[in-house]
Amino acid sequence: MSDRTLGFGGGKVILVGEHAVVHGQPAIAAGVRRGVRARATLGPRDRLSIEPWGVRVEPNAAASEPLARAFDRALAFQGQRPPLEVHAEVELPPGAGLGCSAALGVAVIDAVDRYLGVRRERADLAELALSWERVFHGAPSGIDNTAAAVGGLLRFQRGSSVQVVRSRAPFYVVVAHSGESSETKVMVEAVAERCRTEPVESGRALEQIGHLVDQAEAAIRDGDLNTLGRTLDGNHRVLRTFGLSTPKVENLCEAARRAGALGAKVTGAGGGGCVIALAQDADHAIRVRDTLPVDAFVEELGHAA
Ligand code: PMV
Repeated sequence: MSDRTLGFGGGKVILVGEHAVVHGQPAIAAGVRRGVRARATLGPRDRLSIEPWGVRVEPNAAASEPLARAFDRALAFQGQRPPLEVHAEVELPPGAGLGCSAALGVAVIDAVDRYLGVRRERADLAELALSWERVFHGAPSGIDNTAAAVGGLLRFQRGSSVQVVRSRAPFYVVVAHSGESSETKVMVEAVAERCRTEPVESGRALEQIGHLVDQAEAAIRDGDLNTLGRTLDGNHRVLRTFGLSTPKVENLCEAARRAGALGAKVTGAGGGGCVIALAQDADHAIRVRDTLPVDAFVEELGHAA
């Protein structure tokens, strides 16, 4: 990033392991190029504006508006400072599984740091952004804010340090938006409720996801796209048993597989949102993208950072 005053938080896709990661299993996330850019300037008072949403908030710890509370937390990390206007440009759809709120939190904190000349490691920025994320998502695993701050291909597990996943070669996913949005907090709570009412089956299902994460990691390392695709399909089947898919998501996964995708799944909280489909190569990814009847983009993953 050439402009040193511009804060950035990246979007992400979860390749394997969402929801299970909340319950202690590992997951693999990949940062995407789209994200949130934010800039802080001297203002008459503290204010956050977010485009293209047309949202303006002032920090307020007691507000009913979550953004006002989150902004208050973001500013609380700084010591003595002048009033700041933070302007954020969001390139991610909200409530679609791409980590929009975490990217916004990281970008805002980063922008304020940059204005004040505070130097912070990206991993520390991720930690601070968790406090922002909690306003929206209750008790998030921490994968979104980590991916938003650090980017790249990551293996994340609660209580362990985050690890970079090495890939033999770049690979390509198509990210397609079902057009439906959901609230992560609600979806996470639905899975937690299932874990309470059906602890044995749910526990087994979450462990199965953990095994799929290990298989996916090995497949990425070995450049074995067929196996990686099968782990995506397998993960999607388990997520479906938790009620996290929708007819639109199913249709998109099916359409991608019909177009030759090696695997496809819902990504993030589910209940709508985005689907990822693993393509055979870069050209194939473009063909898959073009066959899907919704907004979709191609992302190259596993490239050297
Ligand atoms: O839909 P998103 O981008 O908020 O991702 C949520 C990921 C979950 O695993 C469902 C929740 C979490 O905190 O890890």
